[in-house]
Amino acid sequence: MKIVVIGGSGLIGSKLVNSLLQLGHTVIPASPQYGIDTITGEGLGEALKGADVVVDVSNSPSFEDRAVLGFFKRSTVNILTAAIYAGVKHHVAISVVGADRLPDSGYLRAKIAQEELIKESGIPYTILRSTQFFEFAGRIAEAATIGDEVYISPAGFQPIAADEAVSALAEIAVNAPTNDTVEIAGPVCMPMYEFIRYYLTEIEDSRQLVMDEHARYFGAELTDESLVPGETALLGKIKYEDWFQKQLETT
Ligand SMILES: NC(=O)c1ccc[n+]([C@@H]2O[C@H](COP(=O)([O-])OP(=O)(O)OC[C@H]3O[C@@H](n4cnc5c(N)ncnc54)[C@H](OP(=O)(O)O)[C@@H]3O)[C@@H](O)[C@H]2O)c1
Repeated sequence: MKIVVIGGSGLIGSKLVNSLLQLGHTVIPASPQYGIDTITGEGLGEALKGADVVVDVSNSPSFEDRAVLGFFKRSTVNILTAAIYAGVKHHVAISVVGADRLPDSGYLRAKIAQEELIKESGIPYTILRSTQFFEFAGRIAEAATIGDEVYISPAGFQPIAADEAVSALAEIAVNAPTNDTVEIAGPVCMPMYEFIRYYLTEIEDSRQLVMDEHARYFGAELTDESLVPGETALLGKIKYEDWFQKQLETT
């Protein structure tokens, strides 16, 4: 199969490109650093020529409300238009578990806009909604920092190793479209506060962690249900602490 990975240089994209190459597919990593830009359209039509599948794992350079909405709308419209022209048979995208439950988050509103455009496009699709990647801990802490304090909600949270989300995406990409959304999460549900506490302790970060049930997660207050998947979700096997210690050994 010829598979185009939009965002093929990113965290998820670069792992996905490797994994699809290992399965023997023809894989085109597509992103600005490869001369393919879904906002300007540069190189997009050429990349999609003869493609069977497009997997969109790109991300907005800015998480500011208007910028991120503009990115996902424009990028998705451009990809879908080019995909229809090229006769692509399956559009795969990654979204976020609970995106529809947190309309106060500009980032998650943008992910919902992306999902809706895909569903309305007429191209057979599969959407994988993932929980937060273990690798995202630093960005969560950074976004929650005010001065020297990090305000984090104790709400339920079920993060996953990026590698396990990538395995699921690779399987989805090489199988028939389901025209549906599937969820994936890590094996353990824990308070987000505990996840960030572990991370900050391990990296010996001097910032003060504050548990705050009103703390906003990229704009939205959380409940125990907000970011946790439903009962039918696929579940990874790797626990955060084990993953973290392995990262330390390999760096
Ligand atoms: N972080 C999480 O915990 C989490 C959880 C669930 C779902 N997700 C979703 O996972 C996806 C991937 O996240 P990630 O952390 O792997 O992202 P990332 O590492 O920030 O990578 C973003 C990718 O998007 C590309 N990109 C940016 N602007 C582009 C453009 N105009 N045209 C084409 N490509 C462009 C970048 O290319 P260049 O390198 O060339 O700039 C890069 O390859 C996102 O859609 C996110 O919503 C994330």
